[in-house]
Formats: sequence, structure tokens, C-alpha cells
Amino acid sequence: MSEQEKTFTLTNDQTGESCKLAVRDGTVGPSVIDIRNLYAETGHFTFDPSFTATGSCKSRITYIDGDEGILMHRGYMIEELVDKSNFLEVSYLLLYGNLPDKKQYDEFNHNITYHTMVHEQVHHFFRGFRRDAHPMAIMCGAVGGLSAFYHDSLDIWDEKQREISAHRLIAKMGTLAAMAYKYAVGQPFVYPDNSLDYASNFLKMCFSVPAEKYEVNPVLARAMDKIFILHMDHEQNASTSTVRLAGSSQANPFACIASGIACLWGPSHGGANQAVLEMLDEIGSKDRIPEFLERAKDKDDPFRLMGFGHRVYKNFDPRANVLKKYADEVLDELGINDPQLELAMELERIALEDEYFIERKLFPNVDFYSGIILKAMGFPVSMFTVLFALARTVGWVSQWKEMIEEPSLRIGRPRQLYVGSAQRDYVPMNKR
Ligand code: ACO
Repeated sequence: MSEQEKTFTLTNDQTGESCKLAVRDGTVGPSVIDIRNLYAETGHFTFDPSFTATGSCKSRITYIDGDEGILMHRGYMIEELVDKSNFLEVSYLLLYGNLPDKKQYDEFNHNITYHTMVHEQVHHFFRGFRRDAHPMAIMCGAVGGLSAFYHDSLDIWDEKQREISAHRLIAKMGTLAAMAYKYAVGQPFVYPDNSLDYASNFLKMCFSVPAEKYEVNPVLARAMDKIFILHMDHEQNASTSTVRLAGSSQANPFACIASGIACLWGPSHGGANQAVLEMLDEIGSKDRIPEFLERAKDKDDPFRLMGFGHRVYKNFDPRANVLKKYADEVLDELGINDPQLELAMELERIALEDEYFIERKLFPNVDFYSGIILKAMGFPVSMFTVLFALARTVGWVSQWKEMIEEPSLRIGRPRQLYVGSAQRDYVPMNKR
């Protein structure tokens, strides 16, 4: 440790021994204490079960300031990206670090569209699932299964193969997500149309049928594109950390992204947008809101207000603010007057005035609005998390690629505080 380095000294109150730890500064945001030598120097590990105070990696991709409600990708504010950019351009930004010039954009667009079709045998693979399978269950299996189809891009130490896998994943997620939907509704799979932009192509694969002409509604395509951008990356959240941990063992990228999909599925993470609509169904009518608010506050009741609160944002969720605007646009365009939407707005109003929610800084997160807007667009609730996974794939592959390209890559391996039995002798069954 050099003299000029900032340090942090940790002292053992029992023995008086102390240990000097390096403090590392990021570009913006809080500095971190580097504890990599802690065990060697003190014989202690740290204890941080839900990683509320642990930085697991260095990253250049996304920055969040939860108190100020700031989300930036590669230094660009999310509000500006949603306003001025599109899904593919932001994908390029996340993957390669800078916004593309025209030539780079056209080439990237070509590379992604080139990979939108899935191997024809994937269709048979899909047919092995029950018709009533949850589309997230299909996605876990289908994306993991891609590693059985694309053997030519599995060498993670080959830069070109890594890039092809990244392109394949971004391109094929839309196709697979649409296939999961079509399979559930019993309609034929629709092949991608590479003359369309990513969002329009996706809507066409979901909502067109061979028997009828389909025109993509530009308002819906625009909203879809914005929803994708808003969900693309969120630094080291649970699913991204899962992808990194899986990738740290040098597993192939398709398997790693499948692990991210599995993690995203949970209702505390990406499953929350589905949970919001299920909760609204359960509440049923405005007069029952107070009853459910009381349940949300009751520590003996597992019920929580879905779509409220966030581990990092403790002021507002910038994605939710942006999404609210597009929700209004879509509902206007479709002329939707949905009682469930009115219920959601009333719930939001009452909760935001409630002392319990104010004190704990609980406010609507991105999932609160995304469920409403996706429902209006015609997606069944079971597809909500799938759409989140589609967009987040860009963040996952970017974070995975960044990690593999880090020279100091080592397998991730947290430690534990063991609180089980100390050593004891085996007792034969007839003596227990
Ligand atoms: N409803 C009622 N109370 C809540 C809620 C909620 N939605 N969220 C947090 N609280 C309460 C907790 O009970 C706790 O109260 P206490 O201090 O009296 O014990 C306090 O607020 C702090 O909450 P934590 O659980 O410590 O917050 P944590 O950071 O662990 O959890 C989480 C964040 C999981 C998002 C949580 O707020 C939640 O479960 N929300 C509902 C699910 C949801 O919307 N998830 C989507 C997350 S965003 C995303 O994945 C894109």
C-alpha cells in the first residue's frame, strides 16, 4: 500500500490490534474499503448476508444514486437515453462503452438482425413444454438450451465468440419471448421481420397471425422501445450478480443468462410487475384499499404492497417517473378506461400520503407502472417478467462481458458465519 493511498484503520477492541485497509474511489459515488486482505491480516471475514454494504466488482456500465434518484448508463442519464435514443443504440452503448456513430450503428443493427431467427429445432424444443407452462419457466429452459445449439460461440476466452454470443442473446431473446407467448395462446410461431426495428418486430412476432395483415401501431412500438430501455441494466442487482457469479466459474454465456432469468423471476425482483396486477385483482375495489394498506403495515402479515419500495432508491425511482408518462400516452392512444388502472392510481395516492410509507421512503417503483402499461398493450400478466428479462439481457451480457475481460477474474466465492452444531459423534439409529 503506497503512502499517498487513502486508508481506513480497523481496530480490534479486545486485542487492540489494528489493520490498515485501502480506500478506493470511484468516478462518482461513495468510496469503498478494500477488504481483500482482511482475513489474511486479521483472521476475520466480514458479514453482510444480503450484500447491503458490499461492492462485489468494479464496473464502468451503470451508476445509481439511490438518494437522488439518479440512474446513468456509461455516464448518460436514463431520462435522456429514453427520450433521445432507442433500444439498439443503448444496447451498443452498454456493450461497447460509447454511443455508436452511424457506421457502427448500422453494422450493429445488421449483426443483431442477422441473429434474430432461432435454430429451427428450437421450435421442437418448445413443444416439449406443457401448454400451460409459465413463460418464465420456458425462458429458463429455452435460453439455457441455446448452449446446446450454438457450439461455435461458447469459447469465452475468444473475443469474437464472446461478441457473437452477446449478439445472439440480444437478438434471440425477442424471438424466444414472442415464441413463449405464442405457445401459451396456441398460435403459430411468427418468424422475425428484419425490416422492422427491434420493438416493432417484437410486437409483430407477438401479436400478428398468418391469417391477417398486421400493422405495428407506432405509439405502442415507441412505448415498447422505451420500456426496454428502462429495464436494460441496473448495476449489481440480484439477477446481474447471479449472472456474474455463474460467469465467474467460466460457465458459457447462455447458461449464465439462464441463471439470471431464474433469479429475475422472483416476486421481490422482476416478478413484481406481475405481482402488482395480481395484488390489484385481490384488492378488487377502491373501498378495500385501507384494509390492504393495514395488512401491508402489519409485520405479522406477509402481505406487502407490490410495486412499492426499492433496495437502492430511497427517494424516487427515476424509471417509474419516465414510465408514468408513457403509460398515459399508451392508455390515451388505446382509449382505455380501465377500472384496475383507476384502482392503481387511487392506491398510489393513498399510500403516498400514508405516514408508514412516507417514513420508510416507500414509493412506486418501475414495476408499479410497467404492469399497467403492458396490460394495456395486450400482454397477459405472465409475460411481464419475460419482457423484463428480454431487456435486461443486454445488461446481463454487458456485465458478463466486462467481467470476463477483467484480467483479475477469479471465481466468486462468498464465505459464511457458521452457526450449526460443533463436531459431534454419529449415533446409530436405534440409539437416537
Ligand atoms: N410494503 C410494505 N412495507 C414495505 C414494503 C412494501 N412494499 N417494502 C418495504 N417495506 C417496509 C419493510 O417492512 C421495512 O419496514 P421496517 O423498517 O418497519 O421493518 C422497511 O419498509 C424497509 O424495507 P426492507 O424490506 O428493509 O427493504 P429492502 O431493501 O430489503 O426491500 C424490496 C426492497 C424487496 C423491493 C421491498 O421494498 C419489497 O418487497 N417491495 C415489494 C416488491 C417489489 O415491488 N419489488 C420490485 C423491486 S424493483 C425491481 O426489481 C425492478
